[in-house]
This record gives sequence, C-alpha cells and structure tokens, in this order.
Amino acid sequence: MNNAELIRKKRQGQELSCKELSWFMSNYLNSGVADEQMAAFLMASFLNGLTDAETASLTEIMRDSGRVMRWPNCSPGSVVDKHSTGGIGDKTSLIILPLVALESMYVPMIAGRGLGHTGGTLDKLESLKDIRLRLSESEAQKIVMKYGGAFLGQSDDLAPLDRRLYALRDVTATVESIPLITASILSKKAAEGISGLVMDVKCGQAAFMETKQDAINLAQSLKRVAHLCGIQMSAFITNMDEPLGDSVGNAVEVAECLRIMQGQDLDNKVAELSLVLATEMVHFYKSKESRESIKQRLTHYLKSGKAYELFMKIVVAQGATIKEELPTSKHKIDICAPQDGWIQSIATRQMGLLLIEMGGGRKVQSDTINHAVGFTDLVKVGQKVVKNEILCRLHMNHLNEGIVEAARSLFSVSDSNVQPQLLILEHMV
Ligand code: URA
Repeated sequence: MNNAELIRKKRQGQELSCKELSWFMSNYLNSGVADEQMAAFLMASFLNGLTDAETASLTEIMRDSGRVMRWPNCSPGSVVDKHSTGGIGDKTSLIILPLVALESMYVPMIAGRGLGHTGGTLDKLESLKDIRLRLSESEAQKIVMKYGGAFLGQSDDLAPLDRRLYALRDVTATVESIPLITASILSKKAAEGISGLVMDVKCGQAAFMETKQDAINLAQSLKRVAHLCGIQMSAFITNMDEPLGDSVGNAVEVAECLRIMQGQDLDNKVAELSLVLATEMVHFYKSKESRESIKQRLTHYLKSGKAYELFMKIVVAQGATIKEELPTSKHKIDICAPQDGWIQSIATRQMGLLLIEMGGGRKVQSDTINHAVGFTDLVKVGQKVVKNEILCRLHMNHLNEGIVEAARSLFSVSDSNVQPQLLILEHMV
C-alpha cells in the first residue's frame, strides 16, 4: 500500500481497515503523508462518507495520538462528561459540573473556546480573575479527584491528530461531514478517559446543524460510534432558534449561572437544561434510580446553594480570585419594544456575531476578549410585550450607535400571538 493507493481506495468508496487508517494517519504525523494527500483523503471521505467502523477506528487513532487520561481510583462508570455542539447563551457546563460532582462522580471536563458565532465555556470562565484553565496533568488529576471535577482547556498533547486534521478541514471545505465531526468530537472526549457522555446537539438558526433531521443524523452517528468505542451515550436535540437563558456574553453568563447555582431563577431554561443533562449523566452511573428522583436531588443542590459552594471551591482551586467582582461594562443601554405584541423571533446567530463586534468574541484567534460586554434581560420568543418594554439590556464599554441599532433589529414583534419555543426537541437514549 502506498499513500496514493489508499486515497484511491477511499475515492472509489471502498472501506478502509483499521490497520490501513492507522498506517496512513501515523505516516501523516511522521511527515510521511503530505498535507495535500491528507486533504485529498479528507475530501474523498467527505464525498463518499465513512462507515461506522472506519469512523470508530479514526476516533481511536485520534484519541491515541496523544495522552489519554486514566482514572484508576474512580469506580467504573463514575467518570462522565457532556458535550454541546455550540450555541448562543449556552452556559450549562458551568452548572452541570458541580451538580454531577456532588453525586460522588467525576467530570474531567475539557471545554472549548468560542467557535465562529458561538460562545465558549473557557472564554466565559476567564471572566473570573486569575483562573487557570491550562492545568498540568497532575494538577488536573488532583483537582478532579478532590472535588469531582475540573474545567480544562485542551492541552497540546490531547488528540493532537484531531487538531491537525481540523485545521486542514477548515481550509479545504471538509468540516461539515458527519463522520469527520463524529470522530473529531469523540476523540477528544474519549481522551478524557470517560465511560459515559451526554451530547447536547443544538438545532436551529444559530446552530451548526440547522435542521432537526441534520441534528438527528449527527446524534445517531455519535451514538453508534461512541458505542463502538465503548462509551455509553445519550443525546438530546435542543433548540437554538433563540438564545439559551437570559444573557449572552461572558461575565454576564457567569453571573447568570451563579444566580442559578444559588437557587435563584430556577424557571430559567438554563436551569432546566442543566438539570436534564446532569440527570442523564448521573443516570449512567445510578441507572437503577429513576431520572425523576435524581433530578429532584440535583434541584436541591441548586436550591440549597451546594452546587454554588462546590463551583466556588473548584474555581478557587484553579486559581480564581473570587473576592473580585465580575467585570462590568461602562454603559448599559435598554433596547425597548417598538410596539405592543408578541416576540416573533430573535436573530440568534446575528446576536452571536454582534457580540463579537462588541469585543465579546474573537474575529481572529489572537484577539483578546472583553469579558464585560454582552446582553442581559433577554425576552423569549412568544413573550407578550408592551410598547417600550425592555427586550434586552446592552452592556458596552464604548457607546456605538451602529451596535445599538443592530441590537434593535435582532428582535421582531408580531401583532398576533406567537407560540413559545420548545427547549428539548428530542431525547435519543
Ligand atoms: N467540533 C469539533 O470538535 N469537531 C468538529 O469537527 C466540529 C465541531
């Protein structure tokens, strides 16, 4: 077998064995396969697809290209995580981690940065002064074992093959391939050494997967391949046609999570989704107990402030100076309803892009983030409003009429009744 022969085989739609894939990928890492050959392979895989067996092999090869975390002192089934495909206002990870850790379970959560118009958990957490998210292996192990979880940035030695392939996919129009996305997501999660994963596959105008069918296809692929790789998975398809919760930004989203973890605002959809996802993670390990009973206990952790206490312990262990207030912006401007009516739509993807314009996200990787800017007090689709009622509050450091105007245009108000959006569209056990 040589490189071109293997690419030809994939181009002809034939299935590659694990051995062939492994040989090709390790050659790539050792500079024996050129970027243009890998690009051709990725395009052939994009156009012809990969079988589940190929996708599982690729997942394991990517996982094993770097360090794989091991948890020998944790009881089997107790190390779990959740992954979201990304959205606007999606901040559930901050709440889920302490909720699950309170169940004598372990969540070594490798979180991401903002990608495109979507926000990232690491960027949000960096609103906490001095927090360190790039921990050494031994430090991460120590914090996870002591508190049940840690928020971790992806270090260079975790699934390095995925990082190289993703960079190549980005410039060869091969990102939007279900098997390649599946292998990419699962390889990083598998490197955490988890036995259970809950997937939150976002669906809607501001999601990676815009239609429900695409979201279901991705979730099914993830489930089948996770199973082949020995990871138990449960997937939810959730709404991304409106922002999740009351705020969009970085510090403002952390503040919203802190309120929820202190038992306030429990009818907020962030609280609802966090509880549903965390319940599912706990249910992997405590499958004899009903989901209702697990959820009740987790709700109590929010109401009693236990989740808040543990979250604080974890972020302090990671260096955060919690005596410092979260950063706030200089100007707060209310965007108000132009008429009486019902909120018909919120241009959610545009809101993510506007946040970037305001400095709350990155245009290029080297950009620094202004953690204070964002949107709070957001209305919901279907909500009845009267003229001049607040639709959202804009937090800005510099007054910019263009941004204020753009924020006004995110909301459309209808004269007739509009149904609220469903949060959870599907649960695929
Ligand atoms: N997120 C990932 O981690 N990988 C992909 O391929 C797409 C989204």
